[in-house]
Amino acid sequence: MTTSPVEEAAALRAQLLGWAEAYFERDAPLVPDADYDQALKRLEALEREFPDLATPDSPTQRVGSAPLSEFEAVEHRLPMLSLDNAFSAEDMDDFHRRVTERLGDGDVAYCCEPKLDGVAVSIVYEHGALVLAATRGDGTRGENITANVRTISNLPLTLSGEDVPPYLEVRGEVVIPREAFERMNAQARAADEKVFVNPRNAAAGSLRQLDSRITARRPLTFTAYSVGVVEGDLPGAHDAILQRLSEWGLPVSEYMQTVTGIAVCDDYYEALARQRDTLPFDIDGIVFKVNGMAEQEKLGFVSRAPRWAIARKFPAQEVSTQLLGVDFQVGRTGAITPVARLQPVFVGGVTVSNATLHNADEIERLGVQVGDTVVVRRAGDVIPQIVSVVEGSPSDSSTERAKIGFPGQCPDCGSDVAREEGEAVIRCIGGMACGAQLKAVIRHFASRKAMDIEGLGDKLIDQLVDDGLVGSVADIFRLSQPQLAMLERMGEKSSYNLLASIEQSRSTTLPKFIYALGIREVGEATALALANHFLELDALLAASTDVLVGVDDVGPIVAHHIRGFASDERNQRVISDLLALGVNWPTVTVASGEGPLAGTTWVVTGKLESMSRGDAEQRLRALGAKTASSVSAKTSTVLTGPGAGSKRKKAEELGISIVDEIEWLAMLEEME
Ligand code: IVH
Repeated sequence: MTTSPVEEAAALRAQLLGWAEAYFERDAPLVPDADYDQALKRLEALEREFPDLATPDSPTQRVGSAPLSEFEAVEHRLPMLSLDNAFSAEDMDDFHRRVTERLGDGDVAYCCEPKLDGVAVSIVYEHGALVLAATRGDGTRGENITANVRTISNLPLTLSGEDVPPYLEVRGEVVIPREAFERMNAQARAADEKVFVNPRNAAAGSLRQLDSRITARRPLTFTAYSVGVVEGDLPGAHDAILQRLSEWGLPVSEYMQTVTGIAVCDDYYEALARQRDTLPFDIDGIVFKVNGMAEQEKLGFVSRAPRWAIARKFPAQEVSTQLLGVDFQVGRTGAITPVARLQPVFVGGVTVSNATLHNADEIERLGVQVGDTVVVRRAGDVIPQIVSVVEGSPSDSSTERAKIGFPGQCPDCGSDVAREEGEAVIRCIGGMACGAQLKAVIRHFASRKAMDIEGLGDKLIDQLVDDGLVGSVADIFRLSQPQLAMLERMGEKSSYNLLASIEQSRSTTLPKFIYALGIREVGEATALALANHFLELDALLAASTDVLVGVDDVGPIVAHHIRGFASDERNQRVISDLLALGVNWPTVTVASGEGPLAGTTWVVTGKLESMSRGDAEQRLRALGAKTASSVSAKTSTVLTGPGAGSKRKKAEELGISIVDEIEWLAMLEEME
């Protein structure tokens, strides 16, 4: 049977949209980039040949177009204003007093929204079609970035639904979600390309590309937060307007909530501040807006900001301080990382006295020297970073600047250091003979997601290595109680407890064991993919790079690291020692796709009591289920622990079944 061009184009469009959704919105690519590109090329060819087939929302409209020589200026019909800031509950009380005095009413409804840390854009739809997009610029004039904005995957190119106004200007924020940002930077690092300091800079840089084909490859997302000029009718409340935008297909924040009174605004602020580090995107505060449009109009504006809204900012995440010196730390793979010693500063809610400088290239890029005043950034739970050097520093002319010299020998064991071709990292070549590397290897091996040896903490590992009791991870299983009891600060009871947890850790799982081996670039997810693919350790260790790259999640670099690890005799010896010493795991019998939960997709959210989220997902996959990180119509069940927030809410809205941990453990018992 032959397919008509109409059918083929429709099928390609549906396939590409599905792939793009998986890639951008669920962070779960379904096919390699090359397959996507090939299908897209075919669709482009069809649409060129049969122009009638082209639809305004075709994925071909999002690939970007030929580079511009510069951005045109765009005059905003209504200026894009900024917001006044509040830094405390008192500032919020003052804001509320100003509002109530002018409105003559104490019961004000406020719409609360996260203040997204990205780039503000204005997007104009005429008769439902996207015709113009511009940056904020100076608030009056911005730049025409239509070609770039058209590539944003969650932004409709045409609005759907009822009563779409003939002219609608939507305003909102373009951001790169954190996970997508990390992945994008990991890819850039692997390809030796420039990495971005934070998602905001990456979003801004992506929107400023003159070549929109580059923008199209960046994981940008849009969230609408208000409207500008509108010809046509809209509801009389801010939250209802956003609801209407969402009905027309525009993304709005799922965290938006309307409350009455300023005390509840404070509660919202506190609740979101607690979630801040685990949100899927960066926010730098909360925006509170008087919800009624008539009230907004009555309140009006003062200079460049509305009287009806305020942004309560979180404590700064970027501050400046002085670089006092640089230490060099040796990691598990021998990588030598320069660590900045800083004049302690309070940033993002904690005192920071160290920050990573990554590698020698980064030191050069920053042009940083000891004595400089530097800007330090702390975002989420990531290690603090040095973002830039404050110009004109050191401000104090009595401070001597000193160049940062990279050591020619390992600072721990004195072995030579080497830089692999094409790599930014400098490594100690000492291997396990290097105490620092050995300690880092053991820390990883004993960690919770690996062999999970409770009680084997950093200090104890230092002692065991320094005293010569442990020279490889296998030696952990050779430790005896009298040896342990002789260690400083180790009581008899603790020595028995430690032995018991070492004993317990002998029974593990194949994915955990693979992860525990500490092969470069093999994280938890890759270890799981390898275990599911090979089912047996020997098969993994014997696999050629060609076979390895056939595994999900494994590219040529990871395959190379696995081969390198498996062919090293020292590693072979450690593995056979571990097995001889009784380390064991149950045979992996069910590869994903089979089992009692085959065909179902689960999302695990919140903090579980009995195991980590990663372990719960692993159990689910072992039973044949798929696991995903976000809730969508395709989710079958959401497993929730305490603290489950927006994902639980979304599941409720979509009518998806929700189970708690106790129900789930009972289900497992029946199935396993
Ligand atoms: S409302 C007239 N809502 O914050 C008020 N702004 O200084 C218009 N921003 O550059 C802004 N999230 O891009 C509003 N939920 C939100 C926001 C938000 C982020 C940004 C906005 C602007 C800045 C205001």
